[in-house]
Amino acid sequence: MDATGLLAGGYATVSTKVQVYEGSGADIFARINTDCQKMERDKDMTAVTVHEVLDSTLEAVAHVETVAAEVARRVGFRGVSLDHISLATHETTTNAVVHGNRYRSEKKVVVAISITQDRFKITIADDGDGFDPDTLPDPLAPERLSSGSGRGVYLSRAFMDEYHVRCRHAGGTEVTLVKYLRPR
Ligand SMILES: Nc1ncnc2c1ncn2[C@@H]1O[C@H](COP(=O)(O)OP(=O)(O)OP(=O)(O)O)[C@@H](O)[C@H]1O
Ligand SMILES: [Mg+2]
Repeated sequence: MDATGLLAGGYATVSTKVQVYEGSGADIFARINTDCQKMERDKDMTAVTVHEVLDSTLEAVAHVETVAAEVARRVGFRGVSLDHISLATHETTTNAVVHGNRYRSEKKVVVAISITQDRFKITIADDGDGFDPDTLPDPLAPERLSSGSGRGVYLSRAFMDEYHVRCRHAGGTEVTLVKYLRPR
């Protein structure tokens, strides 16, 4: 199963009342906005979900970051929390494109965003070779402090409330980032 198949199967369990957006049409923000407003009015509506299949490019990284930040802002994230979501989304999607799919055109990045009443969740999947975050060198070790790279996973973990990596048997990595929406 490729990354597309993996994520496409999961929606039935997300919510009994869920809005799914497929593709990356220009009007995606308008549709998300409408549904966020619906969610505010309708407390039974527990999730808004965005689902996109993207090429392994840096343009796709920028797109995912923009969509994630926009969705998060519309459900109430502001300031540092919003910055943390943007940064973790950027780093994780970049890793999927660069380290996972290695820019190969036949490999896709699949992104699923879901918002419930109390949290923002994004899952970013690639078709690469997988990795184990627990075996990465500590970027805070004295000999690594001056290194210009090796901080994306560390920062994503630090900035989000939950960070999960799942390596799939068929190959590829699925990273899930969660941020809780705290009352202001
Ligand atoms: N989706 C992925 N697929 C395969 N390997 C990955 C993936 N994400 C991360 N890695 C591995 O984990 C390492 C650490 O990633 P991390 O984002 O922390 O640093 P980096 O990408 O090397 O540098 P930067 O600080 O610019 O992000 C990567 O160098 C890569 O070996
Ligand atoms: Mg990185």
